[in-house]
Formats: sequence, structure tokens, C-alpha cells
Amino acid sequence: KALVIAIDGPSGTGKSSVSKAVASRLGVSYLDTGAMYRALAWSCVDAQIDLDDAAAVAEHCRTFDLRMGMDPTAPSVGVGDRLIDAEIREDAVTSVVSKVATNLDVRANLKQRQRDLIADGAARTGGCVAEGRDITTVVAPDAPVRILMTASEEARMSRRSRQLKVAAESTRAQIVDRDRTDSTVSQFTTAADGVVTVDTSHINFRQSVDAVLQVVQE
Ligand code: CDP
Repeated sequence: KALVIAIDGPSGTGKSSVSKAVASRLGVSYLDTGAMYRALAWSCVDAQIDLDDAAAVAEHCRTFDLRMGMDPTAPSVGVGDRLIDAEIREDAVTSVVSKVATNLDVRANLKQRQRDLIADGAARTGGCVAEGRDITTVVAPDAPVRILMTASEEARMSRRSRQLKVAAESTRAQIVDRDRTDSTVSQFTTAADGVVTVDTSHINFRQSVDAVLQVVQE
């Protein structure tokens, strides 16, 4: 049976870097579902679609040519032939991504794509680490391993502002705002039934990877 590992959590918990490292270590595929929402937001802006026009955003989502590279040592995000790995991390995307992510038609479409990608990735490599905000609850609730990564607000804010090399205060405001918006559509701060919590507040990157691998082995 395929080893699917579902990992949810808010930003600043180390979720992405830990998920990638775990997938590399296990030699399985990796899927960053947040990058898919970011790619849609980028593509809507690129196509000059009004992000407040929910029907237009949903229609664009159904048809855009999203290509996810699932090798954990070199993950990639593309729309058509264009690679947009750098673009989707820019502030112009981060500040609007929640707008497309709270669109329920968008969520239904990306959920199906995510299930297909996880199945394909697992078929190729024997498993897949998929990370996001609703993987343990909605996308892959039957995954054999389900983990919620958490961290104190303090730890999350300082990691994220270090990562982005910007002032702590502006990061805090943006993250708090995004958490609030995101939590209207997915529950990613408390563990659902059967989901194991890994708290990274007081452990470093390597210890977080080991903690996740420990859960996988149980
Ligand atoms: O920057 P950060 O790591 O916090 O976020 P991300 O994982 O790149 O996800 C970006 C955005 O995508 C989130 O703020 C959510 O709005 C949305 N998202 C979602 O709604 N559901 C997921 N499974 C993953 C991401």
C-alpha cells in the first residue's frame, strides 16, 4: 500500500522544509498544495482577472494548465511552459492568495487535482508527502500517516520574518491576517481525530524531521 503522509499546519512551523526533507529521506514524492493556491493567484493576476470576481476566478481555476514537479529535491511549479517558483513567493501573490483560497469552487477543483497528483506521485515512487492546510482533513483523510505541525506564535513569527528577511512587525500583521482569512475555510490549528501533533516551538529543523520520521515508523 502507498505511503501517503499528510501534513498540515500554519506558516512558520517549518512545514514545507520538513516535509521536503522527509520525502527526500524516504525517497517518495512531495506535493506543496499551498504552491497550487499561490500558482492560481499568480495566474489570475497574470491573466488580469478580477480576484473579487469569484465566478471568473473559479472558471480560470478549472482551465489553467498547472504543472507540479513532485521531486522533493527539486520541486517546481509551472503554468503551461512557464516556471513560476520565484513569482509565487512574492508579496504580490502572498497578499492575495487567501482570496482565491477561500473560493469554494476553487477548493473543490484543486482538491481533485491534489488527490490525482498524490495518487500519481505515490504510484511512481511508492509514497507521497503532501502538505497544506486541509490535507489531513479533506484531501487525504484516509492517509496512513497524518500530522499537524504547530508552533507558538512567537516561534512562527520569528522563523517567517527571518526567512523573508523583512521586519518582524509587517510579517506578523500579514500572517495574522492570512491565518484569520484561511481559518474561515479550513481548520488547521487543532488536530482532527487520529492526527498526531508535532510541536516545533522548541526543536530545530533536524529534530523536526526526526519527529515526523518517528511518527511514520509508529
Ligand atoms: O506561506 P505559507 O507557508 O504559510 O503558505 P502556503 O503553504 O504557501 O499556502 C499559501 C496559502 O494557500 C494559504 O495562506 C492558504 O490561503 C492557501 N492554502 C489552502 O487554503 N489550503 C491548503 N491546503 C494549502 C494552502
